[in-house]
Order: sequence, then C-alpha cells, then structure tokens
Amino acid sequence: MSQRVLRWLVPVLAVLGGAVALAHGDGDASRGAALYAEHCLACHGPQGEARASGEAFAAAIVYDATFEEVVAQGVPATYMGPWGEAHGGPLSDEEIADLRAFVQSWTTGEAPPLPTPGVPSGLQAVGSGNPALGAALYMTNCAGCHGPQGEGRGLALYPPLSLSADFLAATRRGVPETLMPAFASAYGGPLSEDDVSNLMAYVRTWERPSALEKAAQEVPPGAWQLVLLTGIGAILGVGLVVLVRHSETIRRS
Ligand code: HEC
Ligand code: HEC
Repeated sequence: MSQRVLRWLVPVLAVLGGAVALAHGDGDASRGAALYAEHCLACHGPQGEARASGEAFAAAIVYDATFEEVVAQGVPATYMGPWGEAHGGPLSDEEIADLRAFVQSWTTGEAPPLPTPGVPSGLQAVGSGNPALGAALYMTNCAGCHGPQGEGRGLALYPPLSLSADFLAATRRGVPETLMPAFASAYGGPLSEDDVSNLMAYVRTWERPSALEKAAQEVPPGAWQLVLLTGIGAILGVGLVVLVRHSETIRRS
C-alpha cells in the first residue's frame, strides 16, 4: 500500500472505529438524555435526585458499574421495572448504554440538557382542567410506560392506558402489585390535584376518550344510588299504604 493511501486510510479508519465504539459500548449521552426524560425522570427526577416521598419516587440514582444490569433487569418487587428488551422492557442494549452515558455525565458535570417534551398545539378543553398543561404532564409522567398516545409499548408490563371511569382513582392511588405508581401528592406522589385534573383534561382530548365519556355516562355518579333509593322508597310507600288500609280494616271490624 502506498504512503499516500495510508495517509488518508488511517484517520478514516480511526473515525469509523470511534463511531462504532460510541454506538455500541460507550453510549451517546444526548440520546441518553432524551431516553431519560421519556422513561426515567417520572420517578427519579431530572437529576436522579428522587422526586417525592412515595415508594416509587423516593429512589435517587447512584451511578456505579451495575447500572446497565440493574436498568435492564429491574429490581424485583419494587417500582423499578425491567427496562431491557430481554427482560420484557422497551429498551435495547444500545439505548441502555446511551442512558448510562447520560447518567455518567452527571458525575463529570458535562450533562447534555434534557429535551423539553413536545406537546400538541391547539388542544380544546372538553371538561374542566387545562389540556395543554396536562399534555406536558403526560409526556413527563406517563408516556414512558403508556406510550406517547396511551397506546402502550406493546409489552405486558408497559400496557396501553385504559380509559375507564377509574382513571382518576388509578392515577391518584396507583394500582397495587403492579408498576403503576400512586401519583397524587396525598399518596406520596409528585402531582397536585390540579395536575391530575389537567392530565384528565388532556387524555379526554384523544379520540378514544369517547370511551371514557361513555363509561362516565353509563354510570353517572350517584345514578345507581338514585335508582336504589327510588326503589326502596316505592316499596316502603306501597307497604305503608297496605299497612294503613289493613289497620283501618282491623279498626272497622
Ligand atoms: C416507576 C418508577 C421508576 C421508574 C420509571 C424508573 N425507576 Fe429506577 N428505580 C425505582 C425505584 C423505586 C428504585 C429502587 C429499587 C430498590 O428498592 O432497590 C429504582 C432503582 C434504580 C437504580 C438502582 C439503584 C440506584 O438507586 O441507583 C437505577 C440505576 C435506576 N433505578 C435507574 C433507572 C433508569 C435508568 C430508569 C429509566 C429507564 C428508571 N430507573 C426508571 C423507580 C423507578
Ligand atoms: C412505571 C410505569 C408506569 C407509569 C410511569 C405510569 N403507569 Fe399507569 N399503569 C402502569 C401499569 C403496569 C398499569 C396496569 C396495571 C394493571 O395491571 O392493572 C397501569 C395502569 C394505569 C391505568 C388503568 C388502571 C385500570 O383500572 O385499568 C391508568 C388510568 C393509568 N395507568 C394512568 C397513568 C397515568 C395518568 C400516568 C402518568 C401520570 C401513568 N399511568 C404512569 C404503569 C405505569
């Protein structure tokens, strides 16, 4: 090989090698920042400092050599679910390496900025609450597990958002024995009651929330009680009439 060919071949190979190493082993901290904002910030806070007092939100991230393993496998019987594809999670090894590069960058003080979540514009409120604020809350707190549109991640542990009449209860108190944390501050979560109603207002702007509306209409709050009370009232009323008539007959005889 001629000297001239070597002169350009060597740097080109070095750059290529570096790019390959970056893509596979070292991870890309900027891509990691986006993944962190999407999947991890909800519980661990913007700097891994933990976010609230509840069980799901109280763990600070300590960066060490076990990082990739813990993130891939999760910590059984805690809110730290398995994030690696091999363990039923949504993230590839490469993405977990990107996350590691980002979290490691906290220790060097050169962390790339977290991206601000993209929020749809022109949202119309359906009920009370502010859907635009809700959209930002959704992207930060819910999309990591339930997907950007509530479609889920195609995985049993990361399911679609079910738009049932229980939306508020599930969001506030969580679903015990699952990865669904209790988000309301009354239950140790990071969200205020206003946050929760703004979230509800956003979810209602989706196409599917007609399902939510329908569920709410089928059993309007108090409807069953009303039917029940009317029924009991009717029975009591009839009973009373019979009783009065009966006592009149007794008195007459
Ligand atoms: C639903 C809340 C939740 C989410 C989302 C979450 N974690 Fe965790 N994570 C926890 C909890 C709780 C623990 C503590 C588990 C235990 O008790 O050992 C933890 C522990 C960890 C640990 C190991 C212990 C430590 O403190 O260093 C690492 C590393 C970690 N999480 C990284 C991540 C990364 C990266 C993501 C995003 C891919 C993520 N977590 C998403 C709740 C969460
Ligand atoms: C760490 C992952 C994770 C995060 C983050 C998360 N969820 Fe969930 N969520 C789940 C899982 C898992 C379930 C399914 C629970 C079950 O099996 O019933 C669920 C279920 C739900 C349900 C349905 C409960 C039912 O009755 O079917 C609602 C509503 C819900 N989540 C809302 C939210 C909202 C709103 C947010 C954001 C504030 C959020 N979730 C964030 C994991 C998560």
